[in-house]
Amino acid sequence: MPRILFVASECYPLVKTGGLADVVGALPLALASQGIDVRVLLPAYPQVREALSGAARLPLPAGPVLGEEGALLAATTETGLKILALDLPRLYRRKGNPYTAPDGGDWPDNHRRFGALSRAAADIAEKGVAAWRPQLVHAHDWQAGLVPAYLKADKAGAASLFTIHNIAFQGVFPARELSPLGLPASFFHRERMEFWGQISYLKAGIAMADKVSTVSPTYARELQSAEFGWGLDGLIRHRGADVLGILNGIDRKVWDPAKDPFIAAPFSATSFKGKAANKRALQESFGLQPEPETPLFCVISRLTEQKGMDLLLSNLEHLLWRGGQLAVLGSGEAKLESAFAEAARRHPGRVGVRIGYDEALSHLLQAGADAILIPSRYEPCGLTQLYGLRYGTLPVVARTGGLADTVIDANPAALQAGAATGITFAPVTAEALRHALDRAFALYGDRRAFRAARKAAMGLDFGWAASARLYSQLYRQILTARRRAHKGEKAHGH
Ligand code: ADP
Ligand code: GLC
Repeated sequence: MPRILFVASECYPLVKTGGLADVVGALPLALASQGIDVRVLLPAYPQVREALSGAARLPLPAGPVLGEEGALLAATTETGLKILALDLPRLYRRKGNPYTAPDGGDWPDNHRRFGALSRAAADIAEKGVAAWRPQLVHAHDWQAGLVPAYLKADKAGAASLFTIHNIAFQGVFPARELSPLGLPASFFHRERMEFWGQISYLKAGIAMADKVSTVSPTYARELQSAEFGWGLDGLIRHRGADVLGILNGIDRKVWDPAKDPFIAAPFSATSFKGKAANKRALQESFGLQPEPETPLFCVISRLTEQKGMDLLLSNLEHLLWRGGQLAVLGSGEAKLESAFAEAARRHPGRVGVRIGYDEALSHLLQAGADAILIPSRYEPCGLTQLYGLRYGTLPVVARTGGLADTVIDANPAALQAGAATGITFAPVTAEALRHALDRAFALYGDRRAFRAARKAAMGLDFGWAASARLYSQLYRQILTARRRAHKGEKAHGH
């Protein structure tokens, strides 16, 4: 039974700001059910310590981490996740968002906070904790990007997989931080972690892990182009066959319209009546007119450039003119937040906006809306379209990344085959989005086609089982390659 250590900066239900948490909270459970022994290492932020109040306190396996005293908190969550929370009080005992200070800017010592996370992961891989030692460390995003670097620097035995969830967030810091991190000067090299005169945690992960994965096959391809690679496309092309895309799944227990405690009435593909009660509840909650026949669009998103929210704002009047309603739940860039708030003020009863982060409300939106809008400029995988499919809320999405891999456009052939599950559009422009909205209205107006698409969407299974099998194959492949290389070295007398 392979032993794998996940390393990440967030994990549902303990701490979440986006899709990374959903993945780190669900994939280990799917792997466990396939016989893989997974533990998750994450920082013991205040909300994590609180949630794990009964945890056992274990000593740090190799003593202080980057000079920081602390401990490992070991516990199993109610959902069954085995957690190791890294409690370094001076680095992590800060309330609120895991990355940003109360003034909204990044914590100035994030390089140390997440450097320490990676250092601790390597210590666990080398020394073990409570008689458990992983054979492979699966590191996620730049916050865990230094794991492969430490393992390489230490010439440690553990293998590594690095997963890119979003290449735009790279963890780039001044080169002078390299030595305090305890990494060799030779790593300040363009084939290691040097990036335009600075050091990049993401690059370290991509360059030094045994294999690299990302969260959809299309994004794996896109990353090799200058348009999507954010300066790392050359390196990714160079890693060639070591880079692959494995589609994210969803936690079908957390996102189950038949048993969801956060929604107004249960429903399913075979018993669809409850959907109407959720639409009513959603309209009421967002101050929208209680019109059962009006197409209701929703957004559940970080309000950022990536998510194409400006394109939606440009189409707002059009959406309303066509007779739709819009409910938005999101937070992010101040400019976008105020533009949406202003739209709600200008169009009472037609546009409802909730600025903030609200897990429960996100379920009601998925349950009550007719369609979910995701006009992302790029989208490594995207999870909200998958939740939408499960809840019969048809995704209207940009044809990019994981959105392109999961939504079947309602073109005439797909409609005839009963396969359509949403609307896709390209290029990602305001004009193409307007056209997509027109097509969504037309589909909504064709009740039979709309019902068929809903049924097809809800019938799909985007649970984790299939992708967990691909990860487990990948782990075994990496471990086998390691064993072979090790034997080869021995045979050559090293
Ligand atoms: P990303 O990770 O790029 O933000 P994903 O679609 O992969 O995009 O995941 C976003 C996750 O965060 C989903 O679980 C979504 O429901 C959730 N989410 C995003 N914004 C909010 C919000 N304002 N309130 C509640 N949940 C949100
Ligand atoms: C990132 C991506 C998103 C993906 C998520 C989980 O936040 O932006 O597309 O679904 O990671 O992998």
